[in-house]
Amino acid sequence: MRPENVVLSDDGRSVVIIDQTKLPGHTEYLALTTPEELYEAIFELKVRGAPAIGICAGMGLYVCANSFVECDETEFMNRLTKTSDYINSSRPTAVNLRHALERVEKAALRKRGYGVDAMLSEMRSECIAIQNEDIEMCRAISEYGLTLVKDGDGILTHCNAGPLATSLYGTGLGTLLLGKERGYTFHAYTDETRPLLQGARLTAYELNKAGIDVTLICDNMASIVMKQGRINACFVGCDRVAANGDTANKIGTSGVAVLAKYYGVPFYVFCPSSTIDFGCKTGADIKIEERSPDEIKTKFFSEPVAPSEVKCYNPAFDVTDAELITAIITEKGICRAPYTESLKICAAGDK
Ligand code: MRU
Repeated sequence: MRPENVVLSDDGRSVVIIDQTKLPGHTEYLALTTPEELYEAIFELKVRGAPAIGICAGMGLYVCANSFVECDETEFMNRLTKTSDYINSSRPTAVNLRHALERVEKAALRKRGYGVDAMLSEMRSECIAIQNEDIEMCRAISEYGLTLVKDGDGILTHCNAGPLATSLYGTGLGTLLLGKERGYTFHAYTDETRPLLQGARLTAYELNKAGIDVTLICDNMASIVMKQGRINACFVGCDRVAANGDTANKIGTSGVAVLAKYYGVPFYVFCPSSTIDFGCKTGADIKIEERSPDEIKTKFFSEPVAPSEVKCYNPAFDVTDAELITAIITEKGICRAPYTESLKICAAGDK
């Protein structure tokens, strides 16, 4: 099986994505060919989820570089860096975007001196490698996740960290999807995830399609389902993990973690180890994207739900303090507090 959400076309001239803003009603594909189209697709969340953004951006950089083929190597690298910086500026919080772009740029540098065709060919291989690694990582993360749950568990999810946001399986949803294949029955409670409704539109869609029992709740219902004992664990993905274990994920995640602590429910964060950013000492160093008030007031409504002159604050992510996180599950193993040590060991590869 291959991912369908982000695909490099055979001729290398476009990145074909499923437009996630049209789901669940319509499955529409978009072919992205220019830096502007890539920027817009990422900024508008047509492609979203930290790993998927990285995969799309890396492939997109390669696609754009195909049009620099007439340049000499120096000019080729200059244009590549400029394009990479531009795509990187589309969203600030997920570290995967910068990582993937840097990997594809470095691939070109490895073949400097061998001609632009060789540089392009190396870039293409790197894009494919990034996606293949993500497939492997999601599977490994999901295997570790299965060691943390039992058949029949109720799992609360926030935002979407499934196959659409990554490659096959996903991170936060991978355990549920792999478990389903193995005959587990889980009961998912899915936060709708205001304001852009990734939970309602995407997680509920992916779980339902996979035949997993899923119940949609509004974000402010997380407390009651925990209090009623319906939730055995909370599963979320993440966009960046600081060196101390503080974790940035979709707005509202930290509130779920606070509730989970209060009700004694384990709170698990799932991500590839490449999401750990040792350049950020704590969550305070993570840049939080702020988005348009229209997403709160008008986007999904036939009429505005608030007076147009009312101010809105619309941060797209928040940081969950490390002390609220029961474990961070990566493809290399399960990290627990103290995270300053366990994340380092994990990144070194022997966790
Ligand atoms: O704004 P989004 O939809 O890109 O936010 C996505 C999330 O917060 C996900 O939980 C995160 O990127 C992990 S996806 C595996």
